[in-house]
Amino acid sequence: MQQSIKYSFKTISGSYFILCVWLLSILSGCATGNKPQSQKQGVVADKAMVVSAHPDASRIGLEILRKGGNAYDAAVATQFALAVCFPAAGNIGGGGFVVYRHHTGETGGLDYREMAPTTASRDMYLDAAGNPIDDLSKLGHLASGVPGAVDGMVKLHQKMGSLPWKDLVQPAIDLAKRGIVLTAKEAAGLNGNKDYFLKYNKHLPYLVKQQTDWKAGDTLRHHDLARTLERIRDKGRDGFYAGETADLIVQEMKTGGGIISKQDLKNYTSVWRTPVTGNYKDYKIISMAPPSSGGVALLQLLNMVAPYNLKQSGWQQAKTIQVMTEAERRVYADRATYLGDPDFVKVPVQDMLQPEYLKARMADFSMDQATASSAVKAGEFAPKESEQTTHFSIVDQAGNAVSITTTLNGSYGSKVVVQGAGFLLNNEMDDFSVKPGVPNMFGLVGGTANAIEPGKRMLSSMTPTIVEKDGKLYMVVGTPGGSTIITQVFQAILNVVEHGMTMQEAVAAPRFHHQWLPDEIQHEADAITPEVRTILTGKGYKLTERGRFGRIDAILVRPDGKMEGGADPRGDDLAVGF
Ligand code: GLY
Repeated sequence: MQQSIKYSFKTISGSYFILCVWLLSILSGCATGNKPQSQKQGVVADKAMVVSAHPDASRIGLEILRKGGNAYDAAVATQFALAVCFPAAGNIGGGGFVVYRHHTGETGGLDYREMAPTTASRDMYLDAAGNPIDDLSKLGHLASGVPGAVDGMVKLHQKMGSLPWKDLVQPAIDLAKRGIVLTAKEAAGLNGNKDYFLKYNKHLPYLVKQQTDWKAGDTLRHHDLARTLERIRDKGRDGFYAGETADLIVQEMKTGGGIISKQDLKNYTSVWRTPVTGNYKDYKIISMAPPSSGGVALLQLLNMVAPYNLKQSGWQQAKTIQVMTEAERRVYADRATYLGDPDFVKVPVQDMLQPEYLKARMADFSMDQATASSAVKAGEFAPKESEQTTHFSIVDQAGNAVSITTTLNGSYGSKVVVQGAGFLLNNEMDDFSVKPGVPNMFGLVGGTANAIEPGKRMLSSMTPTIVEKDGKLYMVVGTPGGSTIITQVFQAILNVVEHGMTMQEAVAAPRFHHQWLPDEIQHEADAITPEVRTILTGKGYKLTERGRFGRIDAILVRPDGKMEGGADPRGDDLAVGF
């Protein structure tokens, strides 16, 4: 689009109107169906950068880097800070995934996803007639998997950290005691969940303001959470999975009819996993392996669209949207069938990424007509949401890069606050397939590969990703957004490498999403122009407008070696650096 506007300017250079439109689009940097034209940069830094969903968390991460900590230290401090300042998704009661690239070029992944409790079973959310019981996997005590965040941070620090553990937890403790000054968005989030907090807790959780509602500028202090974090600071893993915190979690389970036991907590372990890697043109993609579907799906998507010249067809133009949508439809059909916890099911990662297989998947795609999702099944080879997750990206002075996506699943997770311990528990059990073919809260369907089993990890869409170019660090990227995470990361990468956007423009640009079922292109209001909508509906695509989704937080290494942060304007996100 940038090209066509330049062309218009050149060929109709006398047109005052075209000139004004062109200049206006440069000045505003807006993206109303056309590629942002401003080349507006986000925050730029020389040496180090942290981008997260909350200014306090970004600043705490950066402070650790200023003190000489590395990116892994900063990641630990940022995860704990987010548990305080962003309770909707930041957590110690949930889990997540780390993808890192050490400055030496070595890469790795850490899976601190929650695990199903020992007494969990395949049909635990079904009634006697075999139908899912409303909300049981989504809300309340039975919805929680065994949390992984604290074990994950301990493992990350033990292997990769450089500063003392206590120095990384202390800033979150100080923040919890000092309190968070709520923004309008945060106050609205807490008020909007008040009824749930009251319904799913036997005690009155501190996230509820009695008599009146929260408003912007109010201070939310986390006294119990501060004490829990002190135990984690002093005892590490045992500060959460044993002793007083474990007692409080198990007591909470007894009070509310949950099933996480002392033994489940003791047995929880996060796992180092080799990331999935592959190429897209000149770029190497490094992303999370199963039990996240993110990395496999992202690589499938990029390789399925690679034969098409998306740069030429143009950002958010009909042909580009068609190609991306048809790839997304097929990839999400594969996801539903083949992906699950690799410790329990054989996930055919290599087969799913074979170039011939991906080419064959797109063979029945026609530019004239939308493929119906009912006609698409998983490929054959040898075999709605509140979307509250959060992502942060960090690069340190040495060039170490960390990409972390962490979650409670839904906004404020199960809505259960562990009494006396001050933190929310996840509702990650809903990411299992509670019954084959029955959609979860994101509308995703699954099969036996993602059925519930004791000790198994539920399939995720989280896609913490690092991109290399010419063997060097190029981009650190990820986002929340449930089932849309994969397609958002896909679009952010294409926005930069095919459509020439800056990192900030790429994260701000309006997005669209298709996930096989339901058979519709979901899009933000300004993502697709009315003209392009008419073309697409004429070819049989169903378009559904929805609210804004995701909060991509990313870092791009520019050709001059400086870093540009992309902090998503959909939230209170902030990039900071030095
Ligand atoms: N809970 C969202 C995901 O892991 O995909």
